[in-house]
Amino acid sequence: MQTQIHGRTLELHQGDITLEQVDAIVNAANSRLAGGGGVDGAIHRRGGPAIMEETNRRYPDGCPTGAAVATAAGELPAKYVFHAVGPVWAGGQRGEADLLAGAYRRCLELAVEHGCRSIALPALSTGAYRYPMDQAARVGLSTVIAFLQEHAQPDLVRFVLFDPGAYGAFAAALEELTGGVSPGGTV
Ligand code: APR
Repeated sequence: MQTQIHGRTLELHQGDITLEQVDAIVNAANSRLAGGGGVDGAIHRRGGPAIMEETNRRYPDGCPTGAAVATAAGELPAKYVFHAVGPVWAGGQRGEADLLAGAYRRCLELAVEHGCRSIALPALSTGAYRYPMDQAARVGLSTVIAFLQEHAQPDLVRFVLFDPGAYGAFAAALEELTGGVSPGGTV
């Protein structure tokens, strides 16, 4: 499923983000940048030890929740990994939506700063951090749409959803946010 936003493409794919052939992929990291399971485990496993060596060297203090930092991508097909720290879901009254939006926004800013034309994003916080998928989809998509309405880059933003349930939640949220003009519509 895809839609156009001011001439740039916003896509939804189902699959494994580590296989994406884009300039940057986003990791669902923790604030210590210590590695873990889920997306984080898959990225470090497939990308090799160079990624963790670089995060340890350049970001010894980790990364605050709601932000992101960049490294090279080791053996992955992408050029960069942006390590984004989403919030742990705590019921929705602890600023989770702002923190989740901030993490996505910072990834898009990093894409611009690093000259990336394409970026792949996972559903941050929706695994180990337990953010409800439908709410996370609305936050993630509305943040990307707002960014693309204000910036000329990146040309392609792709959400890579791991399973059919996540894909369905993002597809429903995208239709809701774009007034049902998707797929292939224009915002
Ligand atoms: N590609 C795309 N999506 C994936 C992949 C993958 N290879 N593996 C898991 N996912 C999906 C999950 O199904 C979930 O919907 O990514 C979403 C985010 O899940 P997590 O990776 O658990 O990330 P998060 O909820 O942000 O929790 C972060 O988990 O692995 C640790 O170190 C990480 O402490 C941090 C925490």
